[in-house]
Amino acid sequence: MNEERTWKTEYFDEISSTNDYVKTKRGAGENLIAIAKKQTGGRGTKGRSFVSDEGGVYLSALTFYEDFPAKNAFLVMANAAVAVVKTLQYFHLQPVIKWANDIFVNGKKICGILIENTFSGARLACSVVGIGLNVNNRLSEELSGIATTMQRAAGKEFSVEAVTDRLVVELAKPHTMEEYLKNIGYLGKKATAICGEEKRTVTLLSVDEEGGLTVLTEQGERERFVTAEISIRVEE
Ligand code: BTN
Repeated sequence: MNEERTWKTEYFDEISSTNDYVKTKRGAGENLIAIAKKQTGGRGTKGRSFVSDEGGVYLSALTFYEDFPAKNAFLVMANAAVAVVKTLQYFHLQPVIKWANDIFVNGKKICGILIENTFSGARLACSVVGIGLNVNNRLSEELSGIATTMQRAAGKEFSVEAVTDRLVVELAKPHTMEEYLKNIGYLGKKATAICGEEKRTVTLLSVDEEGGLTVLTEQGERERFVTAEISIRVEE
């Protein structure tokens, strides 16, 4: 994960899901980025759908690794989150990472990341990093309460091509866990921790080098979670 990467690139006016498309190419063994103007079946985390109307950036990077220990797989997520943060900073926005891999601006979600890894024994064989970034796309009234776009945050339109190009440049760079940790937001804030059917109020304490989140429960106990176990909704 410490070298600059390159990918073959394919562009689509419309596709069901760029993640699903690049996953069909895993047999080819070649790094590939699929970039779409819109998706009709965009997928989010935890089986949710991801609205992907024209005006946003929707891309998936399929990357193969020679020797990547499975225990370090969180670095793929961290690298993608930092790449999005740096892209937004390049366009003079002030993003923060909401653990584990949502990117927020002005308290609203601007970008979601869906990682789909393929393991071979104790190694990470390849990863699919899917990124949906709201640029000039319109948001429904329902989404407007919780999501934003680069256009809304900056009060002006952006070139979707320029944002895409910058994001690919940043994705190609090796970023560090320190950069990920430096850009984590909402520490010290109260949040609702959603674990299956159970909802609890917690305070977000810290994120560690392995990507685990430690929270303080209302009973004063510390608990550590990894991404698959829990969703966090920050209370403003
Ligand atoms: C989330 O916030 O739940 C993650 C959203 C990830 C959306 C991106 S858009 C490009 C890629 N293709 C998909 O179907 N999903 C990811």
